[in-house]
Amino acid sequence: VQGGCLSIVILGASGDLAKKKTFPAVFNLFRQGFLPEHQLQFFGYARSRLSDQELRDRLRGYLKAGGTDPSKDAATVINHFLSLVTYTSGAYDTEEGFIKLNEIISFHEVAKGGKEGPTRRLFYLALPPSVYPVVCKLIRQHCMNQRGWTRVVVEKPFGKDLASAEALSNQLGELFTEDQLYRIDHYLGKEIVQNLLVMRFANRIFVPIWNRDNIANIQIVFKEDFGTEGRGGYFDEYGIVRDIIQNHLLQVLCLVAMEKPVTLTPEHIRDEKVKVLKAIESIKDKDVVLGQYDTYKDDPTVAPNSTTPTFATVVLRINNERWDGVPFILKAGKALDSRKAEIRVQFKDTPGDIFKCKKQGRNELVMRLQPSEAMYMKVTVKQPGLEMSATQSELDLSYHQRYQDIVIPEAYERLILDTIRGDQQHFVRRDELKVAWQIFTPLLHRIEEGKLPLINYKYGSRGPLEADELTEREGYVRTSGY
Ligand code: BG6
Repeated sequence: VQGGCLSIVILGASGDLAKKKTFPAVFNLFRQGFLPEHQLQFFGYARSRLSDQELRDRLRGYLKAGGTDPSKDAATVINHFLSLVTYTSGAYDTEEGFIKLNEIISFHEVAKGGKEGPTRRLFYLALPPSVYPVVCKLIRQHCMNQRGWTRVVVEKPFGKDLASAEALSNQLGELFTEDQLYRIDHYLGKEIVQNLLVMRFANRIFVPIWNRDNIANIQIVFKEDFGTEGRGGYFDEYGIVRDIIQNHLLQVLCLVAMEKPVTLTPEHIRDEKVKVLKAIESIKDKDVVLGQYDTYKDDPTVAPNSTTPTFATVVLRINNERWDGVPFILKAGKALDSRKAEIRVQFKDTPGDIFKCKKQGRNELVMRLQPSEAMYMKVTVKQPGLEMSATQSELDLSYHQRYQDIVIPEAYERLILDTIRGDQQHFVRRDELKVAWQIFTPLLHRIEEGKLPLINYKYGSRGPLEADELTEREGYVRTSGY
């Protein structure tokens, strides 16, 4: 990446997100040579009183050098990276810390790039959203770059419902322009999610069949085989609909369902995503199943009488020419029987079934986001052998087999690089966020008023049976391997 001295400022540097995701992601970019080694500095900022060295020691354990450059051994690369990390301690709501931070950034800019050259400042808020407005205001007042761009990365939760999200958007919108704000949804950085547009619009075989005439139903599924361990306090306030469905799964839905963008520019892509979101009908209670796993309330950070769902299946209906009548079944749950995220596009039965293959199952395109990226198509083929009978098999693209030499980048790595490059394609635009909240807010309010049943399910199970029943009622025909 070219363009002058680059300062990456991570606010909330001593917290979990920074340690586990943000620093390792920038480290990976660094070790692969994507960052300007000689014009680069990382700044950690948080309230804890730490020295530079103490922060470096905390980060070290989270950095793994994969060794792309055989001339440098792992420890050398890690040490080099850490030597570029400095730490500033300060409050999030007073001016002093940000004045000091600005001085330190400016000092390094001059030391590395001279007094004149262009500079770039990226602020990554690995912070609770309650402090976004004040932190953004202080960045705006004291830390703006005078010699190049300033970009600010924020992560969900962006509010709790439409009203609070709009209030936050207004506050941030007064401080930064839309092209300075990068709203991360890390699902948009996943390899298979990024492949969706290519798959859909670069393959003649999919283009004409991707509609209500051929597709029976679409599922977008997120499962985790662990509970809210360590994050109960946050989770209990938000619940699975806000944590996963309203953002990650809805973003995936947009890419599965949108029309072809005019070009690949970020604005054209996001225009089409917004159109799809606007065509989603309001959610009816009969289209929702909610659950909570049996040991959820054992977590001392969770309210003892909590009714927060840890599992939800929500059927969304898109009222447009392409999708009328095709249910989009979004399912997410914690503490289930496996960890998996996938998209399942199930096609309709073939008319005139001379092979009686209906019992073998339908065509289904499965795109597995994780674990181990894959895409496979369930097809009916002749059972090999002397008999003329049909059986179901797969056309299989497993990434670990097909792309053995390629390390698939972490979502955060890719999205931070996009931020440095100024590419907002994989970030959520303000109007997208607003419509996403419009879709889910009435349902969330009804859930909070206790108007929907909450079904108890066992830790490590498939979740409430009622969710499978709903999925089948929506026309999903179960095949082997589901
Ligand atoms: C986060 C949620 O956004 O995504 C977590 O807050 C969840 O609850 C995580 O565990 C899942 O991300 P991934 O990339 O592991 O599927």
